[in-house]
Amino acid sequence: MTGDQVRSTFLGYFERNGHKIVHSSPLLPANDPTLLFTNAGMNQFKDLFLGIEKRDYTRAASSQKCIRAGGKHNDLDEVGKTARHHTFFEMLGNFSFGDYFKEDAIKYAWDLLVNEFKLDPERLWFSVFEGDEEVGPDDEARELWIKVGARPERVLGFGRKDNFWQMGDTGPCGPCSEIHYYMGDDPSDPEKNSPHWVNGPGDTKMEIWNLVFMKYNRTQEPDGTFKLTPLPAPSVDTGMGLERMTAVMQHVKTNYDTDLIKPIVEFAASLGTQASPPATPVPPA
Ligand code: GLY
Repeated sequence: MTGDQVRSTFLGYFERNGHKIVHSSPLLPANDPTLLFTNAGMNQFKDLFLGIEKRDYTRAASSQKCIRAGGKHNDLDEVGKTARHHTFFEMLGNFSFGDYFKEDAIKYAWDLLVNEFKLDPERLWFSVFEGDEEVGPDDEARELWIKVGARPERVLGFGRKDNFWQMGDTGPCGPCSEIHYYMGDDPSDPEKNSPHWVNGPGDTKMEIWNLVFMKYNRTQEPDGTFKLTPLPAPSVDTGMGLERMTAVMQHVKTNYDTDLIKPIVEFAASLGTQASPPATPVPPA
């Protein structure tokens, strides 16, 4: 499957399930002083989550061009160290603005991965928010993953760093549930295909999709402290890395080996092997 087909399979699935397909917004967000670059598919829908804008649809899907090179989500320091970070990428996402919530988001994710993309469930791992002093544990997400077919030992709890998503210091946010894929050759390897590697070092496991259960708005008070208030309606924001999912579907070990990036690298490399053109003399000023 090509990268283009991964994108169209994702968007086609959600279109068949009643989602409006929305174009990527620009990389420089309009009217949002909290962000330098667009860092997620949900950015263009921020006001819909907050209930201050209404459109003629309550579910959407997109393939959003993103840059993560600064601010809250910064991949810059990971480039060259991992097989999966490159600061510019496309994020596939499905969104519900007060329409469906956790149960349907999890059903759609399982159905698309297992029944459409035909991923082996024995390579999939799921993480849920284990709770902290501010927000309780997401036991419901754990139960829902098991209900759709995940084995209980494949659903793991993690803290705020991995399983509570917010676009910046302020804005819509909520607990999230990530789907990780085992990239090794043999899924029956009990040492490598084990919980130890989920959110662990190296590229043995790769996060492919994050489902955010948007429930709160995070605001800053005049005294500088932050506060969570409930959104007008629970909503859904998801993000799947197009290049990561393409690496999975093309059975390659790095995003750079996919048909989305490899031709660009090869083209750049070919320029390096061409003879340099003669220097153009600079006319006297
Ligand atoms: N907005 C979901 C994500 O970026 O993971």
